[in-house]
Amino acid sequence: MLEVKHLSKDYGGITVIRDLSFTVNAGERRVILGPNGAGKTTLFHLLTGVEKASSGSITFAGNNISKMNAVERARVGIARSYQKNNLFEHLTIRENLMLAAAAATGKSRWFFRDVTNQADMKTRIEETAEQVALTDQLDMMVSAVSYGNRRQLEVGLALATRPALLLMDEPTSGVGPAMIDTFHQLLETLPRDITILIIEHDMDLAFSIADHITVLNFGEKVFEGTPEDTRGNPSVRQIYLGNGDETYGASNDHA
Ligand SMILES: Nc1ncnc2c1ncn2[C@@H]1O[C@H](COP(=O)(O)OP(=O)(O)OP(=O)(O)O)[C@@H](O)[C@H]1O
Ligand SMILES: [Mg+2]
Repeated sequence: MLEVKHLSKDYGGITVIRDLSFTVNAGERRVILGPNGAGKTTLFHLLTGVEKASSGSITFAGNNISKMNAVERARVGIARSYQKNNLFEHLTIRENLMLAAAAATGKSRWFFRDVTNQADMKTRIEETAEQVALTDQLDMMVSAVSYGNRRQLEVGLALATRPALLLMDEPTSGVGPAMIDTFHQLLETLPRDITILIIEHDMDLAFSIADHITVLNFGEKVFEGTPEDTRGNPSVRQIYLGNGDETYGASNDHA
């Protein structure tokens, strides 16, 4: 489904991703772990075409997409949700989802006129809202909903494009334990025809949803395996427990 080979990214002489190779199977849930600055978000920039790799290749559904720009990659079915909120505050959740879906179908020209009458679009929006547990909030203004709901909507915007590959950058960052449960359910109920790569700081969530985990440190892959293997791996434990990072330390204490 997704094959990354010898991928590297330099910023002005500093290597942020170094000779990274990995493969993700169709339908898989792959968690990317790594301490702050490990290169996780940069990897997503490279996969979505927001940034160009310095070297290496990316193959998606059998096609080399390395030279495609972000718009072309979205068109072949790669979508992402952001680490920081990226929403239209003064539109409703429904309108935000419609904009995302309309942009993806290239039908934004008629969008403002009568997209709400388009049955397929309406169905798509309502399905997406259900997938991210926002059905009850569909007609609320984004500025009026909770921070957690906004994080759900972030994922919804990506899902509204009907992606084959969904990249999620820390969907639970800044949310409380109840909302982490909501995300847990949300992720578990997403259909398996969507392949998912997720950067997740909550260890319990990461370990429970992942089929496989890839661990990055200083831009390099330092480990890859099942959640069970990852948990028991000494060098992974060293990275999380040895660097004084509070987020990981705290999460590990609960694990
Ligand atoms: N545009 C850029 N120019 C120069 N350096 C950059 C740029 N973007 C990222 N970096 C550097 O690349 C490294 C990796 O950053 P990245 O954001 O990918 O890490 P991350 O694993 O997502 O971290 P976090 O867990 O904090 O989100 C960092 O040292 C960062 O400072
Ligand atoms: Mg990041």
